[in-house]
Amino acid sequence: MGMFKDFRIFSLPGGFALTVLLVLGNAQDHQTGFISLDCGLPVYSSYSDQTTDIHYTSDASYVNTGEIMNVSPEFKTNVDVRRQLWTVRSFPDGDRNCYHIRLTAGVKYLIRGTFMYGNYDKKDELPVFDLHIGPNKWDSLKFESASAVINKEIIHIPSSNYIHVCLINKNSGTPFISALELRPLRNFTYVSESGSLALVTRTDTGATKSQTFRYKDDKFDRIWTTETFSACTSLNTSLNVNADQNDYEPPSVVMSTAASTKDANTSLDFYWDAPPNDNSGYYIYMHFAEVEELAKVKQYRAFIVTINGNFWHGPVVPDYLLDSTVSSQSALTGAGKYSVSLKRTENSTLPPIINAFEIYKVIELLQNETDQDDVDAINNTKLTYGVKRNWQGDPCFPAAYVWNGLECYSHNNTARITSLNLSSSGLNGRIIAPYISNLTMLVSLDLSNNSLIGSIPDFLSQLPSLKVLKLEKNNLKGSVPVQLIEKSKNRSLLLSVDPNLCSSASCGKKSIAVIAAVASVAGLAIIILLTAAAIFWSLKRRKRKGTPKIDAETNNQNRLLGSEIRQFTL
Ligand SMILES: *[C@@H]1O[C@H](CO)[C@@H](O)[C@H](O)[C@H]1NC(C)=O
Ligand SMILES: *[C@@H]1O[C@H](CO)[C@@H](O)[C@H](O)[C@H]1NC(C)=O
Ligand SMILES: *[C@@H]1O[C@H](CO)[C@@H](O)[C@H](O)[C@H]1NC(C)=O
Ligand SMILES: *[C@@H]1O[C@H](CO)[C@@H](O)[C@H](O)[C@H]1NC(C)=O
Ligand SMILES: *[C@@H]1O[C@H](CO)[C@@H](O)[C@H](O)[C@H]1NC(C)=O
Ligand SMILES: *[C@@H]1O[C@H](CO)[C@@H](O)[C@H](O)[C@H]1NC(C)=O
Ligand SMILES: *[C@@H]1O[C@H](CO)[C@@H](O)[C@H](O)[C@H]1NC(C)=O
Ligand SMILES: *[C@@H]1O[C@H](CO)[C@@H](O)[C@H](O)[C@H]1NC(C)=O
Ligand SMILES: *[C@@H]1O[C@H](CO)[C@@H](O)[C@H](O)[C@H]1NC(C)=O
Ligand SMILES: *[C@@H]1O[C@H](CO)[C@@H](O)[C@H](O)[C@H]1NC(C)=O
Ligand SMILES: *[C@@H]1O[C@H](CO)[C@@H](O)[C@H](O)[C@H]1NC(C)=O
Repeated sequence: MGMFKDFRIFSLPGGFALTVLLVLGNAQDHQTGFISLDCGLPVYSSYSDQTTDIHYTSDASYVNTGEIMNVSPEFKTNVDVRRQLWTVRSFPDGDRNCYHIRLTAGVKYLIRGTFMYGNYDKKDELPVFDLHIGPNKWDSLKFESASAVINKEIIHIPSSNYIHVCLINKNSGTPFISALELRPLRNFTYVSESGSLALVTRTDTGATKSQTFRYKDDKFDRIWTTETFSACTSLNTSLNVNADQNDYEPPSVVMSTAASTKDANTSLDFYWDAPPNDNSGYYIYMHFAEVEELAKVKQYRAFIVTINGNFWHGPVVPDYLLDSTVSSQSALTGAGKYSVSLKRTENSTLPPIINAFEIYKVIELLQNETDQDDVDAINNTKLTYGVKRNWQGDPCFPAAYVWNGLECYSHNNTARITSLNLSSSGLNGRIIAPYISNLTMLVSLDLSNNSLIGSIPDFLSQLPSLKVLKLEKNNLKGSVPVQLIEKSKNRSLLLSVDPNLCSSASCGKKSIAVIAAVASVAGLAIIILLTAAAIFWSLKRRKRKGTPKIDAETNNQNRLLGSEIRQFTL
């Protein structure tokens, strides 16, 4: 099968590129772009983790709901239980609760949720719930014990400048989360043809004791777990393994150990199973570095990698203390079990080795997020009026969790908000333009039975698709904009307003009458001015003739009428 033949090697020639990377590496070493939330930490609290030095903050400003809970004391005593696991945020209310995290659109992130139940609710019942990223399902959570720590990781490029991580209640216990972490990655690493990559395993092979490594050993804070394969031998070096030529930069401590076979003729094999009836694609990343100083003449290590018996890559000749990463360019698909085999080449005198590998499953995030302008508009509407509803996550998707009071429609591959119903929602203040007017696909707007004041703004008649507008049972005043009345008259709009506002045909006449009245007032003013001017002019003439008594009156007139008069007297 041809699909196993394509691969990508990340081991660039040294020289210039190496120098540049070293400089960047130093400058960016300190948690640049890391977002590290210890969920359930009291608001405004933060600390630096003792082992990793990572700075964790409270999650309170990233989520509006949930309760802060402590795990039972017996789960804190184990030294392996990191501080991030001591508290959780649990979500007893609502079907969907979401974190809203601002970040940089287009940047590749490793997003990791960490979960340990720790009997925080004293119920001793392990919950089952789902995890969503934006409008799409990411994974399900199921715990084996109260002390089990589950890490869910996905490598994802957000298309907007925020991301929603949502916990979904499936009526099988209350969702909760212990920690949420985001780490920017280099966007030309972990490239998939489609979808995002959910971690299956990240394994450090060849170590002799079980351990995990992460930041600061790993500058991207990937978590590597050591694993020993039976029938394998362990090789290691105490020297530093150089990663600077490989953009994946697996940590030196991970690369300094390698698994190998006991004799050169035995192949090094491992496999993973795909869940039944799951056609997801997989990506594997293998990291290699020679850790033994080979005798120049007699020793040579080279091997071929096959997957399910098909040639995949080779010959691999690992460089001494210099790592390289081999990955597939397209997803591995179509098998229930994936067997990887490393076999020496004919002239190789040494067995194959592998230092570390990662396996990811493709998660197709098919549902696009709701149109960004609509999301901003509805969010700002929510903030402006202090709407008290469980409005979280994407407003329109998944369809089961569309915001209460909204209806949406898919348009040009993104969803648009078509209906906003905030009737009987205790809204105060005026109906103001900037936000609602940006909901340009709105077909129906119901703001009835609130305490809205002021007049009905004109912008409502500019909403191009509006067919239903309900404003009754408010404290609105004034007249209804003429265009709304016309739309209602020709039945392109179903308009309902309180009877004290003029909305009938006669009301339209009334406002025209008012305009006429205004016009006639203006006309009257001109007539008065002209008359006054005429009087003044004639008085002036008389003044020239010299009539002292009337002269005093002239001065008064002059003061009263001001500059307009002067125009006429020039
Ligand atoms: C990575 O990001 C840079 C700048 O942000 C962009 O120019 C480049 O096209 C991106 N590469 C990939 C593979 O997405
Ligand atoms: C390296 O190998 C030596 C000897 O085989 C062993 O004692 C040591 O524990 C190994 N170190 C690691 C980190 O595995
Ligand atoms: C490995 O196989 C070769 C021939 O394929 C044989 O000559 C050699 O003795 C074998 N070595 C071991 C250790 O079995
Ligand atoms: C081993 O064989 C390959 C070709 O099969 C060749 O390119 C390589 O140079 C050989 N290595 C040694 C050390 O003979
Ligand atoms: C809504 O807007 C506020 C203020 O601009 C912002 O802090 C918040 O993250 C936004 N929320 C959503 C869901 O867009
Ligand atoms: C939607 O598609 C139409 C044509 O297919 C295009 O004219 C319009 O600009 C698109 N609208 C958006 C918001 O992308
Ligand atoms: C999401 O958007 C992309 C690109 O615009 C499009 O190809 C895809 O069909 C859209 N998906 C859905 C479910 O509308
Ligand atoms: C808005 O919601 C209320 C109560 O849920 C309902 O009675 C009313 O018909 C809705 N308005 C529209 C325009 O659907
Ligand atoms: C109007 O809203 C009030 C509460 O704000 C509610 O009690 C009442 O039932 C609502 N009336 C209608 C007709 O929906
Ligand atoms: C309305 O949408 C436009 C883009 O279509 C945006 O530039 C503007 O800032 C939005 N207005 C408000 C008040 O959000
Ligand atoms: C109804 O009146 C409005 C406002 O004058 C106008 O824009 C619209 O085209 C009219 N619609 C029909 C169906 O006549």
